[in-house]
Amino acid sequence: TKPSIGLTGLGVMGSNLALNIADNGFDLAVHNRTNADVDRFLEKSGDLRARLTGHYEIEDFIAGIATPRTIIMMVKAGSVVDAVIAALTPHLEKGDLLIDAGNSDFNDTVRRTKTLEDQGFGFLGIGVSGGEVGARFGPSTMAGGSAEKYALVEDMLNAIAAKHEGEPCAAWLGPDGAGHFVKTMHNGIEYGDMQMIAETYGVMRNGLGMEPKAIGKVFERWNEGALGSYLIEITAQILQTEDPQTGADIIDVIVDRAGQKGTGRWSAIESQKLGVPASAIEAAVTARALSAGKDQRETMERLYGTPDTVISSASMEAIITQLENALLAGKIIAYAQGFSVIRAASEENGWNTPLARVAEIWRAGCIIRSVMLNDIASAFANNPALESLLLAPAFADKMKATHADLRTIVALTAQHALPLPALSAALSYFDYARQGQSTANILQAQRDFFGAHGFERTDEEGSDHHGPWAMG
Ligand code: 6PG
Repeated sequence: TKPSIGLTGLGVMGSNLALNIADNGFDLAVHNRTNADVDRFLEKSGDLRARLTGHYEIEDFIAGIATPRTIIMMVKAGSVVDAVIAALTPHLEKGDLLIDAGNSDFNDTVRRTKTLEDQGFGFLGIGVSGGEVGARFGPSTMAGGSAEKYALVEDMLNAIAAKHEGEPCAAWLGPDGAGHFVKTMHNGIEYGDMQMIAETYGVMRNGLGMEPKAIGKVFERWNEGALGSYLIEITAQILQTEDPQTGADIIDVIVDRAGQKGTGRWSAIESQKLGVPASAIEAAVTARALSAGKDQRETMERLYGTPDTVISSASMEAIITQLENALLAGKIIAYAQGFSVIRAASEENGWNTPLARVAEIWRAGCIIRSVMLNDIASAFANNPALESLLLAPAFADKMKATHADLRTIVALTAQHALPLPALSAALSYFDYARQGQSTANILQAQRDFFGAHGFERTDEEGSDHHGPWAMG
């Protein structure tokens, strides 16, 4: 009998996802545009070979899947997805289901859902997180599309997903683009987490003069506490790893120019479109762009001189403790921003995305898995209408206990020319967000002065009051 599931796109993620599906007892037809990759994949599939059938041609691939078909596409986001859809659809039958499991822009997913559903096909956009290992042994999957279609593949997705205390980290998060939107914000938060970790590394390395291995030990310790997370854990390991070629600390042979594939940037763009501030995440995206301009940074260093970044004053241990709290506060703020963006997108698009579920399925499998997500899940479970994580009692307590240290660290590093773009953005956001009276009255006066845009008065109704200024 033919399998009812197919997967096209046998890159690293696709291959591992295919093995994971087979490993969980599902027969699977596989296809790849480059035929040699199909052979290579099958050769390496070991015991799972019996569950897999390989195909070189699209037509043959589709004919080898029993109807109604479920076809997973794991290809590069962007025009490649459209090209694969265009190649598949002429051979599909009504009722067949296509799943885009790549890192697609949710706007594309919304468009593709409509087009494919109009043609009588099903379409799900599923964000898959967890890198290669996650794809093979248990990712976190964030699905969007028709609930009915999701029900058809729910068992398979639950089976292949990472488990947190036995619960699969897989969920349907709303119609059309909901899953890919949540994945995009996952990646934005991922950028924030990664950048803030890099910033605290920078303070220890360039401010406190610590060696990589010693910093690795600090992260190892932090991993046991409130910061416990996959990203802290791997950073601890990275910093204690030597380069096999030179014997140097590996971190010192890696060029400080960060790559990015788009999802982090989209998270900042979508936040701006929704008018929901995600400044800590945006700062992390900006920091990657700054890192990429290494030549210009070197020119600027020659122009402005190399600052003395060494912090010699206070005790090192005290600063390390403050750094731990600063990182926690910064992380809470970045997550508060990220979840508020998801909430706004859900309202705007009528997705009804359950925020507690989002936090729950991020607790295992995905790159940002951390102990903090437990508390985030509880916060939204206790109050689904929660407008900001910073308003949840448990997080308010954590912020009250840590924001002073974030402030100390931002002030100290500013004096020593140590850049903390994401952590300082987080602090500014917090200080503005908790200020009942802001300075935006100045902006309103300026807008009225130069453009007669009108303002609200504190003592009268209406929004079209004007100042006594002569024409600017
Ligand atoms: C994940 C990762 C994964 C991938 C991104 C990161 O959740 O498993 O986010 O999707 O690593 O492509 O992208 P950058 O190349 O932009 O860092």
